[in-house]
Amino acid sequence: MLGKQIIYFLISSILFIGALHAKIVTTDNDVAHQKMDLFDFIYKTEITDGLIAEVAEENILKLSHHLHEEHHRCGGFIVHDTLEEAKEFLKNSRSGELNKYFIDYSISNEDEVNTYLPMVAEKNINETITKLSSYHNRYYKAQTGIQSSEWIADHWSDIIANREDASVEIYRHERWPQPTIILTINGESDETIVIGGHADSIAGYFGGEHNKAPGADDNASGIATITEVIRVLVDGNFKPKKTLKFMAYSAEEVGLLGSKEIARLYNQNQEKVIGVLQLDMTLYHGSRNQDIILISDYTNQEQNAFLGNLIDKYLQLSWMYDRCGYACSDHASWTGNGFPASFPFEAKKNDMNRKIHTSNDTLEVARGVADHPVKFAKLALSYLIELDR
Ligand code: BES
Ligand code: ZN
Repeated sequence: MLGKQIIYFLISSILFIGALHAKIVTTDNDVAHQKMDLFDFIYKTEITDGLIAEVAEENILKLSHHLHEEHHRCGGFIVHDTLEEAKEFLKNSRSGELNKYFIDYSISNEDEVNTYLPMVAEKNINETITKLSSYHNRYYKAQTGIQSSEWIADHWSDIIANREDASVEIYRHERWPQPTIILTINGESDETIVIGGHADSIAGYFGGEHNKAPGADDNASGIATITEVIRVLVDGNFKPKKTLKFMAYSAEEVGLLGSKEIARLYNQNQEKVIGVLQLDMTLYHGSRNQDIILISDYTNQEQNAFLGNLIDKYLQLSWMYDRCGYACSDHASWTGNGFPASFPFEAKKNDMNRKIHTSNDTLEVARGVADHPVKFAKLALSYLIELDR
């Protein structure tokens, strides 16, 4: 009898120690089918096009390498801290396509939107991209990664210097040194709208502190677009009814780490985030006949339709939907935590800037002119002003 218990104890100890060295990941089915051998264990879920698996720590790099070679992406899977978190993430990623509660997507602030849109200036966006891409890299563990994010905090603080209703927070993460920067303009209500993008950059297969990674398009362009939106709102003395938050996330390039932590915190604290807009890569106008591509997976259908209507009404530009095919940027962190998020992107997936994640991702990919981001700044402004009612 006792012998049986000892054996049982030994087996469960071995399984437990094994589990300590395994990582819980979520990914898409197409990936899983080709690389079954890298998964130690696959969990049964009701979701048919995504899955949760255990991957040994030493196989994580192999999986990443495979995705790079065969699927031309770096991530393609998300590492989670716990099984519970993974389940919640996968569930929300699929059901998050529709809203849980009513959000007013009507368009009725025409006069106000039309006074703000002409204020957007290419020159400012150009300057911010130039500044951010002058750092050797903005890697989440590098000194220049920390400094560049601190520069964003300083620059944003300068912009809001005369506003008593606004503040800039340097949000420190426990597990890595690059902070996330959060600018808040307080409204009358605690309903919140978030516009974000990642501040970090990366180059080379496995990144690294020493690689040169200007990341002009990916994603100095998104941060520069957001910065110009803030500048225009402040110069026009916009007083929001809802609370507006602008975020420069850290550590996106290594698995959406910064945004995942923040979206999870907002979920835990039951923050009333009624809309999230992600700006990641706005510089390269790669699709001849299209201006703005709305990413349709890991995003909210209703909010996406609203963005399409805003483009038609205020920008008179061409737009279409395309898929990323996986949780390719920080919008997925918000979707995974049950918030409505959208991701307007620079080009069709097939026409995107191929120089990202190399030392050649500079302003030269757009011949030194930041006119494509101007469209995204205008879209973000019309989104904010119309949703803020
Ligand atoms: N800017 C890219 C995301 C992107 C790439 C969007 C291609 C649309 C098309 C982002 O910074 C990135 O590189 N994401 C990783 C995944 C992430 C989970 C590490 C990627 O796409 O490999
Ligand atoms: Zn990237």
